[in-house]
Amino acid sequence: MPANHDMQLVAPFSPMILKATMPAAAVAALNEHAQAILACPAQRKSRDWSSHLAGAVRHELRVTDLIHATPVLRDFLYDVARTFAYRCENALLHFTDYAATENLRDTRLQVAIKEGWINEMTAGDYNPAHCHQGCHFSSVGFLALPADYNAEFAADKARQNTAGCLQFIDSRSALGAQNLFTIKPAIGDFYLWPSWMLHCVYPFRSAGTRRSVAINLALQGGGGSDLP
Ligand SMILES: [Fe+2]
Repeated sequence: MPANHDMQLVAPFSPMILKATMPAAAVAALNEHAQAILACPAQRKSRDWSSHLAGAVRHELRVTDLIHATPVLRDFLYDVARTFAYRCENALLHFTDYAATENLRDTRLQVAIKEGWINEMTAGDYNPAHCHQGCHFSSVGFLALPADYNAEFAADKARQNTAGCLQFIDSRSALGAQNLFTIKPAIGDFYLWPSWMLHCVYPFRSAGTRRSVAINLALQGGGGSDLP
């Protein structure tokens, strides 16, 4: 039997990303909001957020008010952002005590939903590398994908498949240091990360819509909150 030499991989320098599954009711509510907005030209115009965003995307619709008005989504965001904040803090303070990273010590930390928008992407759309400002955390949840998207992805090159993918970019490529982290979208999957981290979205060719919600969050230590 090979000796394990008490080996552990310790990665104190890597920025952390949280992955979660959105409540199905939140995905359904956002899809209903998106369809209602797209069906109404006045709503489409008044919620157009494209002048504030980097993407070459068919529709970028500001839905911050609708997120605040959807309790199942609001509560989910509150849970994941608080948990991420505490786990980051604990991982930094107690990086050799991995069990401690599961414990939330301070329950006063509050979360503010700063901005949220829905991205409606169709074939050829993309989002160039960018970061988000005016917040601490950024996040994305995947709401809809083209019917043929999985087949398109599977037919891509065996390595470095990126069609329709979200990709994070950090630092340099070096031995033992990965500088790209690529995420294949799946409906209901949700990711949260430090807002300074560069990321981009690659184009795809399938007919149909790749819909996601992007939400910026800020921490408010012990003070007021925009949450009840
Ligand atoms: Fe972004």
